[in-house]
Amino acid sequence: MKILTIIGARPQFIKAASLSREIAKQEGVEEVIVHTGQHFDANMSEVFFTQMQIPKPHYNLAINSLGHGAMTGRMMEEIEKILLTEKPDWLLVYGDTNSTLAGALAAKKLHIKVAHVEAGLRSFNMKMPEEVNRILTDRISDILFCPTQQAIDNLEKEGYKNIEAAVVNIGDIMYDSALFYGALSANTVLTTIPENYILTTVHRAENTDDIQKLKNIFTALDSIHKEFPVVLPLHPRTKKLLEVHGVSTQIHLIEPVGYLEMVSLIKNSKAVITDSGGLQKEAYFFKKQGFTLRDQTEWVELIAAGCNQLIDVLKDDIATIVLRDIDKKLDFSKEIYGDGNTSGRIIEVMQDID
Ligand code: UD1
Ligand code: UDP
Repeated sequence: MKILTIIGARPQFIKAASLSREIAKQEGVEEVIVHTGQHFDANMSEVFFTQMQIPKPHYNLAINSLGHGAMTGRMMEEIEKILLTEKPDWLLVYGDTNSTLAGALAAKKLHIKVAHVEAGLRSFNMKMPEEVNRILTDRISDILFCPTQQAIDNLEKEGYKNIEAAVVNIGDIMYDSALFYGALSANTVLTTIPENYILTTVHRAENTDDIQKLKNIFTALDSIHKEFPVVLPLHPRTKKLLEVHGVSTQIHLIEPVGYLEMVSLIKNSKAVITDSGGLQKEAYFFKKQGFTLRDQTEWVELIAAGCNQLIDVLKDDIATIVLRDIDKKLDFSKEIYGDGNTSGRIIEVMQDID
């Protein structure tokens, strides 16, 4: 079985690391990795390949820093050429980025089977580019690997029982990565970090591209920083927009870090404030309270479990909510995201269907 994997953005490297490790153990399964180049700074890309021992991509398309149409279109064009040369049995994509949609579309039009890992998630906000990417990718996938029962339910409501595709709940592959790579976490990053800090990330377009939201977030982080140090590895998108809008901040900004450092930062934090999809779950894996800077989330199980709460960046007083709830006692005992063997199950299902 030959699988052609498309990855291009940071969360995909973290997910792909676990599956590539599993594939390497299997006889008769070959993986060809295509890096679209969507993320390209060393600390947004290369560091994950080195630290997590992801095989070197067979192709790097170096397509980035473009509008959605140009980025997706150019990726499709290049991926199509590779598919015609490599003739894989499967095209495998992760999540909801432009790289995901480009890969799935290019393959489907060549009648190559598509497997989508992290299928079925919905925010019900069609203004998010990720929502468009994931709905369209799901619709043309042959196997929809869902991380949660909620994802299965979402697809059932959309009529997937009448669509010829396999829909399976195999747990969350990020949990595999958190367990395996979490055990290797790198504490050196902590030497420059103040104690008792709150770990924060902000990069989602809906927050960074709305000047009022961006200002509200950084004003609130500055207030929280007076009580607990706020540490934020700064995503290049956010960095650019803070500069463009002249927004300054007192919080402890650091460069983006590798996954092993990130896990250390999560494990040693007091709580996590984020708009990242991945980090909402990682906070839970490492038993930290999450505050999500969005008015909806795909990871609703965390809200139901009381371990994460949504904060509306335009309407809510972010700092008051965080400081009010930061010492709440929470229950992290539920196994919401499977048992950490999602990668193994993905291979089994693909071999069964092949
Ligand atoms: C993308 C995904 C988002 C995901 C995020 C993970 C889409 C539509 N969005 O958003 O779902 O949560 O990745 O981090 O696919 N940049 C650099 N260096 C880099 C990477 C990006 O300077 O290594 C700059 C780009 O030039 C661009 C900006 O950051 O100006 C945004 O990059 P882009 O890939 O368009 O989207 P992300 O915000 O990273
Ligand atoms: N991450 C990292 N270094 C950083 C910031 C994030 O390794 O400096 C990891 C984070 O732990 C998570 C993944 O990157 O596993 C998520 O990426 P991001 O927040 O960019 O995207 P999202 O999950 O929102 O799509």
